[in-house]
Amino acid sequence: MGNDLDSILGVAHELTKEDLIYLLDLADETSLEKLYRHAYQIKLRHVGNKVYFRGLIEFSNICRKNCFYCGIRRDNDKVERFEMTAEEILSAAKWAYESGYGSVVLQAGEREDKKYISFVEKILQEIKKFSHGELGVTLSLGEQSRDTLERWFEAGAHRYLLRIETSNGELYRRLHPDDHDFASRLQTLKHLAEIGYQVGTGVMIGLPGQTTEDLADDILFFKEQDVAMIGMGPYVIHRDTPLGQEFRGSLRSNDEQLTLALKMIAVTRIYLRDVNIASATALQALNETGRELGLQAGANIIMPNITDVKYRASYQLYDGKPCINENASHCINCLRSRISAIGEEIAFGQWGDSPHFKSKKDKGT
Ligand code: 5AD
Ligand code: SF4
Ligand code: FES
Repeated sequence: MGNDLDSILGVAHELTKEDLIYLLDLADETSLEKLYRHAYQIKLRHVGNKVYFRGLIEFSNICRKNCFYCGIRRDNDKVERFEMTAEEILSAAKWAYESGYGSVVLQAGEREDKKYISFVEKILQEIKKFSHGELGVTLSLGEQSRDTLERWFEAGAHRYLLRIETSNGELYRRLHPDDHDFASRLQTLKHLAEIGYQVGTGVMIGLPGQTTEDLADDILFFKEQDVAMIGMGPYVIHRDTPLGQEFRGSLRSNDEQLTLALKMIAVTRIYLRDVNIASATALQALNETGRELGLQAGANIIMPNITDVKYRASYQLYDGKPCINENASHCINCLRSRISAIGEEIAFGQWGDSPHFKSKKDKGT
């Protein structure tokens, strides 16, 4: 088969790795438009034009890890560390519930001390209690022992988001200190699936040293892991990190980073079809309408930040994070108009499991 856009998009059989690379390398405007339109059609066919909201609560920026790219890494002493109280977290979750959000995401830096594990467990139980089991909860709390993950699952969490960051083990090693381990990240993903979580993973797009072949491999990795949701976004410099310091000024332009991320969303949608794909907040750090562009390239999930404004500025994984001064109700109104402006609809009061997860469950796999 010739490497021609129309013939690749037209094929009925599965795309090859070479096809994925070809699509990820597209550069001219006409081809890009065609790619996004095609991905959007596939999205409409498999998951519809509804956007599912996950209310994001970033409840603590205390992290034991030291990833070279991340603004809240342990060694960044410019960051003021915070931890929301149980009451604050619950009141944000209640707000989400009362505002018709189907689910919330609890995200924080990584910790694994006993006190913390019980703290999270308690929060989960409380959320299940006040919402009569209705509010879905996704955790995004990094690598944890199997035991901890089981406890949290028992307590009511049903989805878990753990990005692999890159499926290239060598690149992973260059982005993390020596005591961070690719194999244990993979192992944790395996545990999550075994326990019964709906698993999400994802990567950073446009990392220094990352090739389009790596990105194609990432998509193949998603498929191989058979995940239900993908949360991936562009790598964005944080000035007070080792990676940010090294590549400030030499990374692609914001526009180029954005385009690469949109292509990745589109190609992932075309290849995986019925999974949930988040339109990452980091897209909006690169472009004012970044998240809408993500939806138009095939994403179907948005995670509006519902963390109290007083903590938002302290939770900056990358520079230029949007919505730092806007409260939750401001963001929801803003998103409402942004979403209706592109002809999509917000699905309120539903968990929004991906059709992929549902069909897996029905098949008992
Ligand atoms: N740019 C983009 N994403 C980042 N993350 C951390 N630092 C950055 C950055 N500089 C992402 C990682 C992590 C998630 C919580 O945030 O993918 O898994
Ligand atoms: Fe911690 Fe996650 Fe940032 Fe790594 S990416 S330093 S684990 S918050
Ligand atoms: Fe927060 Fe627009 S989404 S201000």
